[in-house]
Amino acid sequence: MIRLDKVSKKFGTGVFGLSDVTFSVDKGEFVFLVGPTGSGKTTIFKLLIREVLPTEGSIIVNDWDVVKLPKHKIPHLRKKVGVVFQDLKLLFDRTITENISLPLEVAGINQAEARRKTEEILSQVGLISHKDKFPIQLSGGELQRVAIARALVLSPDILLADEPTGNLDPATSWEIIKLLSDINEKGTTIIMATHNTDIVKSLSKRVIELEKGRVVHDGKHEGHKTKEKKEESKNLPE
Ligand SMILES: Nc1ncnc2c1ncn2[C@@H]1O[C@H](COP(=O)(O)OP(=O)(O)O)[C@@H](O)[C@H]1O
Ligand SMILES: [Mg+2]
Repeated sequence: MIRLDKVSKKFGTGVFGLSDVTFSVDKGEFVFLVGPTGSGKTTIFKLLIREVLPTEGSIIVNDWDVVKLPKHKIPHLRKKVGVVFQDLKLLFDRTITENISLPLEVAGINQAEARRKTEEILSQVGLISHKDKFPIQLSGGELQRVAIARALVLSPDILLADEPTGNLDPATSWEIIKLLSDINEKGTTIIMATHNTDIVKSLSKRVIELEKGRVVHDGKHEGHKTKEKKEESKNLPE
């Protein structure tokens, strides 16, 4: 359902955001994308929704060749791939309900159906009691839930979550992970970018590890192997 083949992305500045990245993600998988800041996690997400184009390589999402996708088909791709951005991108002058229903409005869904879908998503993410509040009245974990709800409201096949626990305390982070696992169990494919090693270590999910734009590990988390890798990379020059 997702396939990157020998993908490289060189930015105008000459920086390689990604070099020769190859991996596939099957329908229904939950994958952690890990690596330090600057290793290329967000760039992979941007490539998957055609926000940027690769310098080399091919990208397949569902049956679309993302690189060759005609401009008018980009909205179709983005309906199928929901994204929770690192900076959430919520509208602070709109209520929680309005934020979540915005993608439905843009997609031209009729009002009754939009209301039904928004209520359903609000209860799925546990925000019904906050539906008429504004973002400024919510906690960090609740805002993360709003962003997740907005990314899910068009029922995408794939959810990309960019460091959704980045600014949260451990207990709240676990609640977000629980929510994402539940969403995955209902069938949505999930790729979650994170550098929270505690979370990755305690779940036996597939981990794709990036270092300086390259995939350095891809597989189920195995305690001591990852530790060895850490020891090795400690000795590498920056
Ligand atoms: N628009 C851009 N212009 C120039 N360099 C970029 C741009 N976006 C990302 N990069 C560079 O690409 C590399 C990977 O960035 P990014 O994908 O944001 O990493 P991560 O999300 O893992 O922190 C970094 O070196 C970053 O500075
Ligand atoms: Mg990032």
